[in-house]
Amino acid sequence: MPNQSSGSDVKVTWYGHSTWMIESNNHKILIDPFFNDNPASPVKAADIEGCDSILVTHGHFDHIADCAEIANRCQATVIAIYEIANWLTEKHQIQDPIGMNIGGTAKQDWGTAKMVPALHSSGLPDGSYGGEAAGFIVSVSGKNLYFAGDTGLFSDMQLFGNDLDLAVLPIGDLFTMGPEDSVQAIEWLNPKIVLPTHYNTWPPIEQDSDAWAQSVQSKTNSKAVVLRPGESYSL
Ligand code: NI
Ligand code: MN
Repeated sequence: MPNQSSGSDVKVTWYGHSTWMIESNNHKILIDPFFNDNPASPVKAADIEGCDSILVTHGHFDHIADCAEIANRCQATVIAIYEIANWLTEKHQIQDPIGMNIGGTAKQDWGTAKMVPALHSSGLPDGSYGGEAAGFIVSVSGKNLYFAGDTGLFSDMQLFGNDLDLAVLPIGDLFTMGPEDSVQAIEWLNPKIVLPTHYNTWPPIEQDSDAWAQSVQSKTNSKAVVLRPGESYSL
């Protein structure tokens, strides 16, 4: 068989907690940068280089902590809800972020990011109002990747599930949906591949990801892939 994915490889890397990097066609798209105070991350923020865009799902520290340092050093375009984009410019000198809102699509030279709802809160680290929490459907190199962000289960997820090649869903419970609700989400989303996130960073969100993967395999049509922090998956 010839290499069926030549020219359109998409690689996702997990840095622990909810921090992900998408790489495709020499572009790097970082999601929810949380490195230096992330006990699960194998690298520090200073190790991240050549980042084109940074997507921020919401304002909590465990999703935004290292955004400004990396964005300013790499001259990456930050894409976030309007209130967070403005806050990053005012408080952290972020140049020309894309402030958007739920339902909108941001266009970049690597592809697009559609902002979709998430069921969560979104205060910023200094107490500022951060707008609504969100997720993203990233379209890059012909693939559709759903990053749910922090969210509980909500039935409108059924509307996102037309054509997902990959979904990244929280399973940690307590702050987000837990393993059982994530399986319901997977049934609705019907992604080809699903990866767990937002778990095992700290004791309150410890989960058995192998048991979760078995449950996904037995109850859904999706393939569960469990990464360790620092590992990548290519599709
Ligand atoms: Ni959160
Ligand atoms: Mn979180």
